[in-house]
Formats: sequence, C-alpha cells, structure tokens
Amino acid sequence: MAKLLVMTDLHLTDGSRQIIGLDPMERLRAVLDHACSHQPDADRLLLLGDLTHFGQIASYKALRDVLADAPWPVSFLLGNHDRRTNFQHVFPNVSVDTAGFVQSTIDLPDMRLVTLDSLDENARPAHSGWLCAARLNWLDAALASADKPCLVFLHHTPFRTGFDGMDAIWLRNANAFLDVIRRHTVTHVFAGHIHRTIHASIGGVPITVFKSPCHQMPMRLGQRGTDHSIDEPGAYGIILSDGPNAVVHFEDVGLPAQASAAY
Ligand SMILES: [Fe+2]
Ligand SMILES: [Fe+2]
Repeated sequence: MAKLLVMTDLHLTDGSRQIIGLDPMERLRAVLDHACSHQPDADRLLLLGDLTHFGQIASYKALRDVLADAPWPVSFLLGNHDRRTNFQHVFPNVSVDTAGFVQSTIDLPDMRLVTLDSLDENARPAHSGWLCAARLNWLDAALASADKPCLVFLHHTPFRTGFDGMDAIWLRNANAFLDVIRRHTVTHVFAGHIHRTIHASIGGVPITVFKSPCHQMPMRLGQRGTDHSIDEPGAYGIILSDGPNAVVHFEDVGLPAQASAAY
C-alpha cells in the first residue's frame, strides 16, 4: 500500500507579493509542517503545478529551499502560472521527456505514477492547458509499457467543472487525453487548477481535484472570470493505493482546534 501526498497550486512569489492578503509561503509552510507531523511515512509528495504565481526564478528558489528538509521524495508538475525555463534553471535535475517537457514515470511496487506537463505558454485563451501530440504520445507509451495499474497526475482539469470562468481555461484537448487514458489500465486521474475539492466521473474515468495550500475558489458555480479567491483553510490530499484501488483523503489545515472526545 502506497501513501501519496498531493499539494497543488502553491502560487509562491518572491516574497514581495501577497494573494488576497495571504502569504503563499507562510501558507505552504503550515501545510508542510502539518504533513511532516502527521504523514512522515508517506512514500512521495506530488506538487501538481502553479508552483509559483509569476514564474520567477526567485520563487522557484524559495520552493527549493522550503523543500530542503522534506522527508519525502518530491515530484514537480507545471501549471499555467509556471515558466518551464525558469523552473528548469532552478531544478536542473528534474527529469524531462525526450521533447523537453516536465513529464515522468515513477514505478512503485504496486503501481506506476505518471506525471504530465499541461503547460501551454502561448495558450489562447491564456492560462488554458494543452497536451500536444508529443506529450500525448509519451503518455500513451508510458501507460502501455506499465506492467501494473497507473495513477495519472496533471495540472489542468480535463472536464467541465461548473465554474464557467475556470472551464474556459481547462485542458483544451481533454477528450484526446481521456481517449488515451481509456485505452489503458488507469486507476485514477488527479488534477489541480481549480482550488476546490471536486470529484468527477467522466466517461468512466474517475478524476479528483484538490484544494490549494494557499487560497481557494469561492463555491459559486456559474461565475465567469478566473479572478476569484477566498480565504479558506489551506489544504492537501492523501492518496492510499494498492495499485488497482485508490482512496483519497482531504486535510484542511488551520481549522480551529477541536478537542477530541469519546461519545
Ligand atoms: Fe492555481
Ligand atoms: Fe492553474
């Protein structure tokens, strides 16, 4: 049984800017501290993109520094707020595919983890995601060569969530992505981007979206635009999987302390 931690949409800055009055680094530290205390035995931490808010080198250095003492191996994915060249400048040893995209496979005893790079730096509309033919072909090969079930991770949501503004900047070729997924043995797909906990079943593919350690999406379905944020507790996810099965938990950090009591 593997235990995987998921943190997405960190939106780190160089320290000079806050987001709706929140300090992204302070929020991330609180979530990391919580995970270190309660989940030190996890097998891996996956960061599902929007690692930084402006894609600055200084922000990636801040991320590198805050993870220096993390007790788990870390997988990095890119989101629409990231910049691939700046990320690779600070993390030169993170593996990339043959086309230079930040995609990787990690083989655990019972499963293969597949992490994708859905960043399109010339996207129209801006901030939407795309998996080009090279990336989809790489995904197809990564899934085909696995001799065990796969868990797939990416930043952009490959389905319409009901948040109209965010749905305009989804994974534009979601159908092509899901066609590849359905051809193989994929237990579950995991994404970020929305800053909200969402479960979906899209044509038989189970997909889970996680909240952010920093700021969340107000729960107003149908709202247009993407510039909506609310100060709710930061959060991360915990996946328990034996390969063919996955159980997903959600931890909100910073809720008022509650005494546990027998009843
Ligand atoms: Fe984000
Ligand atoms: Fe995003």
